Amino acid sequence: MEIGTVWSVWFSATGTTRKTVTAVSRAVAEALGAEWKEYSFNLPAARERDLCFSPTDLVVFGVPVYAGRVPNLLLPYVRDRVKGNGALAVPVVLYGNRDFDDGLMELRNVLAGNGFHPITAGAFVGEHSFSTVLGAGRPDEEDMALAGTLAEKTAAKAKALTAAPETPVPVEGCDPVRPYYTPRDRHGEPIRDFLKAKPETDPQKCVRCGLCARLCPLGSISPEDVSRVGKCFKCCACVKNCPKGAKYFAHAGYLYHQHELEDQYAGRRSPSRIFF
Ligand SMILES: Cc1cc2nc3c(=O)[nH]c(=O)nc-3n(C[C@H](O)[C@H](O)[C@H](O)COP(=O)(O)O)c2cc1C
Ligand code: SF4
Ligand code: SF4
Repeated sequence: MEIGTVWSVWFSATGTTRKTVTAVSRAVAEALGAEWKEYSFNLPAARERDLCFSPTDLVVFGVPVYAGRVPNLLLPYVRDRVKGNGALAVPVVLYGNRDFDDGLMELRNVLAGNGFHPITAGAFVGEHSFSTVLGAGRPDEEDMALAGTLAEKTAAKAKALTAAPETPVPVEGCDPVRPYYTPRDRHGEPIRDFLKAKPETDPQKCVRCGLCARLCPLGSISPEDVSRVGKCFKCCACVKNCPKGAKYFAHAGYLYHQHELEDQYAGRRSPSRIFF
């Protein structure tokens, strides 16, 4: 099939999805001799308009996995405002060394339901948003080499197609997707008030540069007083991007979950996976 434009479309709070989707899409564009374009839907304003593609587009579309799924607060945008109109797609998810559960399946299905033809897909490991030791430094060289292989397979498949495929690329995960993963305490009970956890601001460190307020994907940090935070989905954009290390979580349930994840999963290298 003739592809005019390869798109890099992503949400990425701490940069791992952006890095991976950019690498895959750029390599596909180069292999196909196509134009390369980028669209980030990190900020609320970017999610207020429809994003429409055409049959001569190939869209590498990436989100992080939150609680084993497509982040619930992003789902309405992805489901209702992104229109494939016959474009080819490469669903990509990043997960933090625990598991991608049904995140890739959900993204693939939502894109297929929106008029895309998912031809290849990938689930890559990124450093966990909550941690600097869980999946530390990933995606690394090995992951990026696999991203290169995904790009090669994608370009070869797109070139070989004479018509849009009838069925989407098979990926790992349950279909229909399972409920969201629930963080639990040592008694196996859901951690109380986990959803209410939000970052604190250290007034001794904060220089009031306003970066966190500009970056927050939910627009929840007051630019006038960055210690005022509204609805938070714990993406950690503010925590990991604050130049002074002034944003941090102190919520007991959040810290319990972070340390439990680190204890259980930091000692192993989970695999990045590609599907074609
Ligand atoms: C609220 C939340 C839930 C998450 N749930 C999972 C999960 O279920 N499994 C997993 O392996 N990683 C999970 N992660 C980690 C992210 O998927 C991972 O760090 C990803 O690389 C972040 O992408 P980004 O850098 O583009 O923001 C979660 C992160 C957040 C913020
Ligand atoms: S990014 Fe950090 S230093 Fe800048 S306003 Fe936010 S908390 Fe303060
Ligand atoms: S306040 Fe919450 S939603 Fe906003 S950037 Fe920080 S962690 Fe993400």
